[in-house]
Amino acid sequence: MNDPWRANQTWASSCLYGRPGLLPGEVNIGYNVFLAHRGRGYATRAVRLLFNHLAANTDHSVATLLINPGNQRSIGVAERLGCERRPDFDDNAYYKHQLEKVRSR
Ligand SMILES: CC(C)(COP(=O)(O)OP(=O)(O)OC[C@H]1O[C@@H](n2cnc3c(N)ncnc32)[C@H](O)[C@@H]1OP(=O)(O)O)[C@@H](O)C(=O)NCCC(=O)NCCS
Repeated sequence: MNDPWRANQTWASSCLYGRPGLLPGEVNIGYNVFLAHRGRGYATRAVRLLFNHLAANTDHSVATLLINPGNQRSIGVAERLGCERRPDFDDNAYYKHQLEKVRSR
């Protein structure tokens, strides 16, 4: 397979800037782990590294995770990362993580 992304079947994480509804200073994070690699802690570890990267290299104050209320695996990621839950955002559960706390460590 020529596509190294799929050939390795590794995971991805991304930041979405300017998503509707985000407050100033917020950046939204999305993530996906290919099925065969779930249940090993990769998502939690990688999003933690992304928080560290955003804290060190950007001036964002908050990282947000928008999670469908039925997505228990993703809610597990947010909870393991210590994200604060806000259920009042669109139809999704909205979790946020204060990057200031990461910076001050
Ligand atoms: C959401 C998603 C990334 C979560 O993946 P995940 O594998 O459950 O999450 P993690 O990589 O953090 O793995 C945590 C699990 O690995 C286990 N684990 C095994 N070895 C581990 C290790 N060495 N270190 C840490 N955790 C480990 C944990 O106990 C935990 O298991 P549990 O949930 O049964 O308690 C995945 O379900 C996915 O890609 N879904 C589709 C896309 C999606 O919904 N994205 C999010 C949109 S908001």
